[in-house]
Amino acid sequence: MHTTLIVENLPHLEEFYRINLHTWVGCEVISCEDAKFAIEILNKHPEINLIITKAKIKTEKTLDALTDYLKESQRDCNIIIIGDSLYSKEKYTHIPSGLDAKVLVQAAARALNVTAKEMAQKVVPDFFPIPATLFLSLEESNCQVYIEQGEKYIEVFSAHTPFEPSTLTGLINKNTELLYVKKDDRLKFTSFYNEEIACQIELVKLNTNEVFNALELSQESLQKKIAKLGINQKTIALAQRNLVGMSQAAKKAPSIMHLLKKLLENKSGYQFKHSQILMFVSTHLMDNLDWGTDEQRVKLQFISFFHDIALEDDIQAMIHSESDLKKADITLEEKEHVKKHAQLAATIVSQYPNAPIGVEQIIKQHHGSINGIGFSEHYSQNISPMAIVFVLAEDFVDALIQSGEKFDVKTQIHKMKEKYSTQRFRKILEVLESITIQP
Ligand SMILES: [Fe+2]
Ligand SMILES: [Fe+2]
Repeated sequence: MHTTLIVENLPHLEEFYRINLHTWVGCEVISCEDAKFAIEILNKHPEINLIITKAKIKTEKTLDALTDYLKESQRDCNIIIIGDSLYSKEKYTHIPSGLDAKVLVQAAARALNVTAKEMAQKVVPDFFPIPATLFLSLEESNCQVYIEQGEKYIEVFSAHTPFEPSTLTGLINKNTELLYVKKDDRLKFTSFYNEEIACQIELVKLNTNEVFNALELSQESLQKKIAKLGINQKTIALAQRNLVGMSQAAKKAPSIMHLLKKLLENKSGYQFKHSQILMFVSTHLMDNLDWGTDEQRVKLQFISFFHDIALEDDIQAMIHSESDLKKADITLEEKEHVKKHAQLAATIVSQYPNAPIGVEQIIKQHHGSINGIGFSEHYSQNISPMAIVFVLAEDFVDALIQSGEKFDVKTQIHKMKEKYSTQRFRKILEVLESITIQP
C-alpha cells in the first residue's frame, strides 16, 4: 500500500487531490496545510512515499523546508510540485495545474510505480469506500450513498436528492469515517465530485492553468444543470460566476495567441476554447470599433457565453453548417438537438434575469436562421450590427482553433473578405486583422 502526503492550504484543492488519488490510484492519503505540520506527519509516518505540494504556501518556502527535512533525515521520497516553479525538472515532477485530474493521477501513479494496467485490474469491493468528510463539500450525490452496518450496506442518500445536512454531520459526529458508493458508480461519482469542486473553488486563489481547468469543468457542470433544472437561483449564480471568471481570464490574457497557447497546453476541449477565445475577441472588437462601448462589450461577452450553452459536448459544438450536421456521427435525436440549439439557448436567456437588451434575438439567430432552427449560409440584410460582429467573430475564432499555433491572420482575413464582401463588414474585418499583432 502506498501513502501520499498532500501539503495544501486550499481545502477544495486538497479534496480534489484526495478523491482522485483515492479512487484512481488507490493510495492512502494524509494531508496538512503547511511544511511545519508536514514534517510532524513525516516523522510519524515512515511509509509515506509521495508528497504533493506547491513550492510556496503563503509566505512559507514549503518545498525548501520539506527537502531540507528529507535530506537531514536521509530519507528518500518522491515529490510532485504543483504550479510553476524554478526547481529542478529532473529531481521533481512538475505539474502546471492541480485541477487536471488526469495529469495528477498519471504523475502520482508514475511516482508510485503503479502501472495503468494495475490501476485497471485492481480488485475493488462491491461497495467502494469514500472518506465521509469529502461529502461535506457536496449538496447531493449523483449516485446512491451507503453506510456500512454490520455486514450490510444501507442507503443513506439517494441519487440527485439534496442531503439532509444534519444527517451527514450527525454521521460524521458519530465517527463515521467512510461512506460507500456502488463499485460501478465510483468513477462517475469522482467526475461529479471534480465538477462540484470546480464550481465552488475560489478562482482568485488559483494559478492561470487552474483557473482554466476550473472554468471548463464548471461550465460542463453548468450545461448539465441548465439542461436538467433550467434557469433557477443556483444555475444563475453559477453562470454569473463563470461569466465573470471567463471575461476576467480574457482580460488578463496578454494576447490572443498567448491565450490560445495556454488553452492548448491545458488540453481544453473545443467548446470551452471556443467560448473563452470569443470572450477575448469580443473585448478586442468593442475596444477597437468606434461604436464599441462598455455596454456593448458586456453584451457581446454575454452572447459569447450563452449562445452554445444548450450543446452537450464537443462533437455537437464542432457542427457549424447543415453539411457538418449531415456528416456528424451522432444519433438522430442529437441531430435534432443540435438543429435547435440556438433556439433553446435563446429560450434559456429569455428567463435569465437582467440579460442585456437584444441578446436573445442575436443568440437565436447566431447561425443565420430567423427562428433559431438549423444553419443558414445567408444572413439577412436586416441583421443588426452586433449580430454581424458576432457572426464574424465566431468564424474567426473557429479558424483560429482549427489552425492552432500555425494560424495565419492574413490568410484568414483574405478568406473572410471574399465571404463577407460588402462594405458593412470591412471595419470589423480590419479590427479582427489587428488582433494578432502581439505574439
Ligand atoms: Fe458557437
Ligand atoms: Fe452555435
